[in-house]
Amino acid sequence: MSTLFLQSEIKNPYLLYQKMMNENPIYWNESNKIWIVYSYEYCTEILNHKKAHIPTVSENNFNEYALKISRNLARLSNVIQHEIAREIATVLFSHMKSIEIDAILSELLQNNKNKINWVELISKKLPVLTVLKSFDFNVQDSLFIANNIEQLIKIMHPNKKPDDIEFINTVSEEIYLIVEKHIGTLSFYENLIIAISSKHNISLQETKSIFISNLIGLFIQSYDAGKGLLSNTLLQCFSKENDSNTTDKIQIQKLVVETLRFDPPIHNTRRIASEDIQLNGITIRKNEAILVVLAAANRDDKHFENAMIFDVERKNNSEHLTFGTGGHMCLAKHFSVHLATEALYYLFNKFKNISILENEIEYESLINARLPKAIWISISN
Ligand code: HEM
Repeated sequence: MSTLFLQSEIKNPYLLYQKMMNENPIYWNESNKIWIVYSYEYCTEILNHKKAHIPTVSENNFNEYALKISRNLARLSNVIQHEIAREIATVLFSHMKSIEIDAILSELLQNNKNKINWVELISKKLPVLTVLKSFDFNVQDSLFIANNIEQLIKIMHPNKKPDDIEFINTVSEEIYLIVEKHIGTLSFYENLIIAISSKHNISLQETKSIFISNLIGLFIQSYDAGKGLLSNTLLQCFSKENDSNTTDKIQIQKLVVETLRFDPPIHNTRRIASEDIQLNGITIRKNEAILVVLAAANRDDKHFENAMIFDVERKNNSEHLTFGTGGHMCLAKHFSVHLATEALYYLFNKFKNISILENEIEYESLINARLPKAIWISISN
């Protein structure tokens, strides 16, 4: 098995991670010309390293809207641009209203009793609808964005097919214009863009564009990772390894945190060396690519005792690297844990009989994320 693989092609990636961590915690993959870093210590070092930058994504044939979004996203930017984009994303995030997740869930589950595909019905919709509702987007705009976000997130993929670009362009324009119209209704918008524009000496127009793009960035970021979290935590509830009481909120929250460590939705993230980097006596040369395997670091015995065992009571489970660390660390750690806890609490308290109908889970053909394609469950009172 190659060290760079699609998650759809491997049954248990953790065995490979463990072997690599023991034998080659910093490994040069010659055929793909990329360094792969496995251990907790070295993953953390790269994520905190000033010379380990976010690689650029291809923007070929993007229209003006797709270009604006991709160039302004905190997730894709470095140095001063990142500082400004992250500042705006952080303020946006702090203004998200607290939302009744039960209300969205009960609407999504309406008329869908008995047999449901949790991934399609809940995991793909709940995170992005929660973010949209917390910024007061109306029902029509929310549905449009939720139904098209799967196309838009391809903006983040390193390489795109011609068909993807056409979709990205169309959807970027429509979503950009919806968000542009909406931001005027946000009470903090005017003051924020005036403050950022004068602090960083950039035009109001430019600041507005960074603001819109990073609001769209919150929808993009919530989609894949949120989908995977809701799916993987549900699978863990049904797993043999779990003996937690799934009707108790505290127990569910512990299960969510341990699932983030043990079976995270995002397995790796990429960096590029902007200068030579020294790591454990190895030189990563300027312009060489690095794959940081967060999911392997989460199973490092040097950091987590009996790391290969699912244990909700382990004291340091929340030190997992699933949300990254350092300058690009995810803004939504608590939001995501809360969302998954509330969703599972609702499910297991609302329905008396819940059972899983899948024997074998298939995963999406992605390198960076391990996302179940479908999870069929039956639910009844
Ligand atoms: C289980 C759910 C989630 C996981 C596992 C996750 C994971 C991550 C990771 C690994 C990064 C850092 C990437 C890197 O350093 O290369 C990141 C960044 C980010 N995440 Fe999340 N995320 C989740 C949910 C969300 C949600 C729900 C939102 C927004 C509502 C969000 C917003 C962001 C933003 C804005 C960044 C970029 C921060 C920056 O570049 O400064 N994330 N996320």
